[in-house]
Amino acid sequence: MLNYRKLILFITITSVVVVLGGGGFMVWMFNEAKHSNLGELTFENPLAIPELLEPTTDDQGRKVFDLTFTAGEIEFIEGQRTETWGLNGPYLSPTLRATRGDEVLINVDNDVEEDTSLHWHGMHLPAAMDGGPHQMIEPGDTWSPTWTINQPAATLWFHPHPHGVTAEHVYRGAAGMFILDDPDLEDLELPDTYGVDDIPLIIQDKKFNNDGSLNFDKSIFGNVGILGDEILVNGTHGPSFEATSSLVRFRVLNASNARLYNLGFNDNRSYTLIGTDTGLLEEPIYLNRLLLSPGERAEIVVEIEPEDDLILRSFEPNINGLNFWEQRFNGGNDTFDILTIRGNEQLVDSEPLPSKLVDIDWPEETNAVHTRKFELSGTGWINNEPMDMNRIDFAATKDTTEIWEISHEGGGVYHNFHTHLIHFAILDIDGKDPPEHLRGWKDTVFIPPTSSVRIIARFEDYVDPEFPYMYHCHILMHEDRGMMGQFVVVEPGTEPPSRVPEIDDHQHHNH
Ligand code: C2O
Ligand code: CU
Ligand code: CU
Repeated sequence: MLNYRKLILFITITSVVVVLGGGGFMVWMFNEAKHSNLGELTFENPLAIPELLEPTTDDQGRKVFDLTFTAGEIEFIEGQRTETWGLNGPYLSPTLRATRGDEVLINVDNDVEEDTSLHWHGMHLPAAMDGGPHQMIEPGDTWSPTWTINQPAATLWFHPHPHGVTAEHVYRGAAGMFILDDPDLEDLELPDTYGVDDIPLIIQDKKFNNDGSLNFDKSIFGNVGILGDEILVNGTHGPSFEATSSLVRFRVLNASNARLYNLGFNDNRSYTLIGTDTGLLEEPIYLNRLLLSPGERAEIVVEIEPEDDLILRSFEPNINGLNFWEQRFNGGNDTFDILTIRGNEQLVDSEPLPSKLVDIDWPEETNAVHTRKFELSGTGWINNEPMDMNRIDFAATKDTTEIWEISHEGGGVYHNFHTHLIHFAILDIDGKDPPEHLRGWKDTVFIPPTSSVRIIARFEDYVDPEFPYMYHCHILMHEDRGMMGQFVVVEPGTEPPSRVPEIDDHQHHNH
């Protein structure tokens, strides 16, 4: 006979044990979820500077760059071998550099065992050259996009963009920086000697397994994907940079899959922001913290004293609109030392920064012919739909201006928003003027939980009713899950298609 009292007692005791044990487990998880490397690094590794890739010139006067997707192995942390991908090497890529007006041709070989693509993030170019998910390169193939550089001086980058596996391909390391110069700015006195006082900083977080291999696990209880507990800068772990001049310009790129960095210095000194994603600011501005979400860039200039020993640090992002639980599991309480900067005993005196940088011809709100709404929801939808490779979500008309309103009703997670082709200005964030550091050309903007951001852009130069451009959240797991859409640009008065015609016929060019 079943003794009910005993049974009830048994159930009660079991539940208490499970709840207490589970609670203990959750407390442990909560504590474990906070990542920090403060005080753990010796910064003995000189910061790697990706070499500048030398172009050749072809008979049409184009600058020709050759890039090859390569699988390799690298020792980020002493004694640990890590399998990675890179371009022309095991990890990351040489830096590309071109000048406004240059015609470039880039041969991209795929020497890895998977289909992938290479997208020019921030580049204003024809859709068929964009390197998104419609320009896949099969193993053994070469894709050779060509276009004319036709945009302001800026710090761009490139990375794989195959639909559904962008996170994985970027995490393996196939990415690089693309610096654009402008002949009209030659007289502007800015630190510009690459590798000396003009330094790329490609910041990425990684997780490693005990055997040194990359750990691709998404952070549990978080909803942004992979959050690493180790930081690499240009592929260097625990990096140190030796400054030889009184001003150093850093081109900072957040090339991480999901992590936000709230950048500042350990002594809280202020530094100068001179440029955002796709161009220089009108005037330099001074700040001591700057939030960079994945895909965003910032050009900063730091004043160095002789024998300085300072640390570029990411302070807790503390994302507005997340509760303490969401904050903790999405990196909101994490803090990392990124790079030490050591000043030489004697520093070369740099020219003081100009007080005026560039004139910006802003798009006018009164010229906008459309206001489009994009609602980001969950971890993979825009306007209640996931991405469909065949669906063209809308067509914009060449030579018009549009306002896009990106909202994020749900909360509980953070997003950002990136546009291919266009560079935008931020009109307002929750109805308020953008802060000073967001008053420059952008292609990626952080969208805080429950916020709404309005941006404005012109659609210029290129039309192609067949090949779409992407817009998406640059939290790569969200992008892969479908928080992405596609638009085409058409001539005025033409009917846009609603499907991507014959996408298979156009997927790649063989050479
Ligand atoms: Cu940096 Cu569509 O990507
Ligand atoms: Cu892009
Ligand atoms: Cu997102």
